[in-house]
Amino acid sequence: MRILSIETSCDETAISVVDALRGKFVVRSHIISSQIPKHVKYGGVVPEVAAREHVKNIIPTLYYALKKSKTKPKQIDLIAVTRGPGLMTSLAVGIQTAVGLAFGWKKPLVGVNHMEGHIYSNWVEHPTTKFPALHLVVSGGHTELVLMTGHGKYRLLGKTRDDAAGEAFDKVAKILNLPYPGGPSIQRAAEKGNPQAVDFPRPMMNAQGFEFSFAGLKTSVLYHVQKMKRVTPRQRADIAASFQQAVVDVLVAKTVRAATQYRVKSVFLAGGVAANKPLREQLAKAIKKELPRALFTIPPFKLCTDNATMIAVAGYFRYRRNGADNWQTLDADPNWELV
Ligand code: KG4
Ligand code: ZN
Repeated sequence: MRILSIETSCDETAISVVDALRGKFVVRSHIISSQIPKHVKYGGVVPEVAAREHVKNIIPTLYYALKKSKTKPKQIDLIAVTRGPGLMTSLAVGIQTAVGLAFGWKKPLVGVNHMEGHIYSNWVEHPTTKFPALHLVVSGGHTELVLMTGHGKYRLLGKTRDDAAGEAFDKVAKILNLPYPGGPSIQRAAEKGNPQAVDFPRPMMNAQGFEFSFAGLKTSVLYHVQKMKRVTPRQRADIAASFQQAVVDVLVAKTVRAATQYRVKSVFLAGGVAANKPLREQLAKAIKKELPRALFTIPPFKLCTDNATMIAVAGYFRYRRNGADNWQTLDADPNWELV
């Protein structure tokens, strides 16, 4: 089965062509037209600019994805598109394009949850995953521990009460005058810093349950910086490294505890913050120590941040479970909660 997938939930116009072949996935093309340079000067994503950029980029991205995968419309078996969560006007561009193609080419169409896409980014390289699986999904809008007992069967163990981990990275980057997107900027600045330099709080790390909270940590960074007359590059690096370590400590501790408590067979990290090197390394080490028999995987960098390959894989499993959606009624669902 050949799947054409479209992802436009935020600021990346992404289109992939993916084959599902005897339980394996072969990525034929994986195209991302990034808008980051357009949003840098505003310090964050401006929804109106994002929607306009999607409109400009989506047809060239589609042509390129088809050309690179040497795919003719008649070879496509399924179209998958992100329905939400995300920015309404950005989602609408991808959905209208997908609906137009499904109608014009007479193809089945399936609407995909963006968070389910992040979860399934792990299936590209591990298509025969064992359940129960635990997912730590950490992105700009979400921080969730999700227990998955089968395809499409999710239980939310805990999520953030306030800021998502990626959001905290983005906001702390602003406080430190580091460019958008904050995650990669903080990671880069932190490379030269000492993660023990400032003792920032580890919110809810030892609290019962699996909820998170990052707003207080962000405020601690703000107060710390406000108390300083000026921030030298050395101090900025130390603050970035100490903040990053606080986030990593909380995420690692809660994930290991959930994985142990629910005796999972697989542990997966997904979402944009999964691109964070210290998080990848420290979580891998902790899982190996505490749950040596569990499968632990992280998607390659290019599948951590928003992309359409993950939407193709999630779309494939959703289509197998529920069949196609009706293209005449498929619309954006900006607040679609997976669980
Ligand atoms: O999944 P994603 O691309 O978009 C959403 O669905 O939100 O995640 C974007 C988030 C941003 O907050 C960005 O700062 C963060 O992921 N991010 C990182 C890194 N790369 C991206 N956070 C920490 N370290 C990184 N290397
Ligand atoms: Zn995302």
